[in-house]
Amino acid sequence: MAKVTVVGAGNVGATCANVLAFNKIADTVVMLDVKAGVAEGKAIDMLQTAHTLGFETQIVGVTSDYKATADSDVVIVTSGIPRKPGMTREELIGTNAGIVKSVIFSCLEHSPNAIFVIISNPMDTMTYLTLKASGLPKNRVIGMGGTLDSARFRYYLSQALNANPSQIQASVIGGHGDTTMIPLKRLATYNGTPVCKLLPADQLDKVVADTMVGGATLTGLLGTSAWYAPGAAGAYVAESIINNYKRVIPSCVYLEGEYGENDICIGVPAVIGRNGVSSIIDVQLNDEEKALFAKSAEAVRKTNQVLFEINAL
Ligand code: 2OP
Repeated sequence: MAKVTVVGAGNVGATCANVLAFNKIADTVVMLDVKAGVAEGKAIDMLQTAHTLGFETQIVGVTSDYKATADSDVVIVTSGIPRKPGMTREELIGTNAGIVKSVIFSCLEHSPNAIFVIISNPMDTMTYLTLKASGLPKNRVIGMGGTLDSARFRYYLSQALNANPSQIQASVIGGHGDTTMIPLKRLATYNGTPVCKLLPADQLDKVVADTMVGGATLTGLLGTSAWYAPGAAGAYVAESIINNYKRVIPSCVYLEGEYGENDICIGVPAVIGRNGVSSIIDVQLNDEEKALFAKSAEAVRKTNQVLFEINAL
């Protein structure tokens, strides 16, 4: 059992904390928010479900009191502004870079051994910022985007196949952006059978296209960024760390030569366990997928460049 801090008690952070408690992933969850009363109130509200839902996790809500986060095993960062309809994740960088950086320093002061899971957008760039600004070893910084994008890919495949999503194996690699993510349709399977043998090409291409704009579709419907799947995805990564499950999770991690890339955090399948990233899985991509990955990395690197232009790094 473990202590997890969730920074940001907005929709995503609160959902993540709720899943951590309800699924008994952590024995203590600290939610922290800059808005007075929000984390406190949501923590009490969740604790009032403990009897009904049957969990014993301690949930603590605080306003910017980092002392309460001390000795966390995992810190999940959701802070920053979410996107509004019509906005890209990349447009949030100016505001969110400063917020994320100060959150990371405050958390590290009290939890020097924590593993960081980054949800804040633009997620690939915020993961890179966390790694570079903190100087942490690369195994301790993980961006959550691929978990979420792969869950959306599974969802759209399950709808097209009229099948149970848990019987579908599907990964999304590359950046966590509407044009940078790469749903690996060639490698997706349903109960061992490649989905390209089960769906006509045009239908599979629609699944891929829907997956890529999955977040934007929800932002359009909700008027703000989605939260149930992003929050649950953060908890899923934390669970693999805390219980040393060694799940292979498409994760935004630092590459040093893998997939032909260097000095970038971007989504690739990684084994996630007690020490964070234990290894990166080298999926054999075909030429088309390799080209898409290189293009995605170029776009993520361009967004990372803004960090230097605004002196965040
Ligand atoms: C999403 O795709 C929050 O970026 C997140 O919904």
